[in-house]
Amino acid sequence: MTGRFELNRRLSDGYFTDTLHTDVLKGLTGRPKSLPPKWFYDARGSELFEEITKLPEYYPTRAEHSILAVRCDEIASATGARTLVELGSGSSRKTRMLLDALLRHGTLESYAALDVSADALREAGDRLCREYPDLKVTGCVTDLDSDLGLPDDAPGPRLVAFLGGTLGNLDGDARPAFYAALRGELRSGDALLLGADLVKDPAVLVPAYDDAQGVTAEFDKNLLRVLNRELGARFDPDAFEHAAVWNEGEERVEMRLRSRIAQTVELPALEAAAEFEAGEEMLTEIAVKFRRESLTAELARAGFGLSHWWTDEEERFALLLAEPVRDGRSPM
Ligand code: AVJ
Repeated sequence: MTGRFELNRRLSDGYFTDTLHTDVLKGLTGRPKSLPPKWFYDARGSELFEEITKLPEYYPTRAEHSILAVRCDEIASATGARTLVELGSGSSRKTRMLLDALLRHGTLESYAALDVSADALREAGDRLCREYPDLKVTGCVTDLDSDLGLPDDAPGPRLVAFLGGTLGNLDGDARPAFYAALRGELRSGDALLLGADLVKDPAVLVPAYDDAQGVTAEFDKNLLRVLNRELGARFDPDAFEHAAVWNEGEERVEMRLRSRIAQTVELPALEAAAEFEAGEEMLTEIAVKFRRESLTAELARAGFGLSHWWTDEEERFALLLAEPVRDGRSPM
C-alpha cells in the first residue's frame, strides 16, 4: 500500500460534533468563557496558521526549524526509527527534514501523521506520497484528548514527534494526562521528539501572538466563523477584538477574544445563547512557555527520561529527545 495516501478516521463520525457541542455549551454559556484551541483548524484556520508561521514576529517555527536542520541526523542515528509518527502534523513542512535524515540513515519505512484537521492531513499526505513514493504514508484524524491511537502495526522502533510547541496548548493538568496516554502506548526502543517554546521576554512573546499585520487576529476570529458554520451561530467577528496577554504566574501567553459590546449570540444547534458583557473576554488558546528544569522534571514524573536537549542559537526554543523509562531516572 505504498504510493497512495491512506486517511483513517478512528473517531466516530459524531465525535467532533459531540465534543464541539459539549465544549461550546461548557465554554460559552457561563463565565469565565473559554474554548479549546483545536476548533481553530478548519481549512481556513489551517491556512491562517501557515501564514502565521511565516510572520516576522512568530519565531517558534523558524527557531525549531534551525535546530532540526542541525540535529536531524543525530536524531536519526540516536533513534534508528523505522516509523515516524507525528502528532499535530499540520502541513508536515518540518517533517521533511526528519524523513530525509531517517531515509539517509536507512531505517525509515513508514510515516504516520495524526492531526485534528482532515483538510491539513489530506493536503500534506498527498504531497508526501508523491515526494516519497517508497514510503508508506498514513494519516489519522484525531485529537490529543482521546486515546492517541498510535499505529501499533507500524514497524518499530517508532519515533513520536510532537513539534511546534503545541505541548503549550495543554495546561498543567492536561499535560500529565497526555504524557500518561503517550507513555502507555510506547514500547521500549521508541522515542519522543518534543518541541517546546521557552520562557522569554514578554516583549518578544506577545507580538508573536499579536502581529502587526493582524494575521493572528484573523486566525483567532476564524474560531467565530467555525462556530457560525457548525452551529448556525451568528457571531459578528467585527464585534470582537483579538488580544494576546502574558500570564506571568502561569508563564503562558493567552489569546483572548474580547467582546467590544454587550451582546447575546444565539447558538441554534444547542438551543442556547452566549451572553457577553461589554469588554468580556473568552480565552481561545493558551501557549505555555517552558523551562528546562521543570519540563525535564514533569517528563521524568511521567516515565520519560531525557536523552538530548537542544536549543537554537538564541535559546528561544528547545527540541528534546526522551525515551520511556521504568523508574523515572534520566539516561542523560
Ligand atoms: C500551533 C499551538 C504551536 O501556540 O504557538 C500560533 C498556535 N496560535 N499563533 C502556538 C498559534 C497563535 C501555535 N501552536
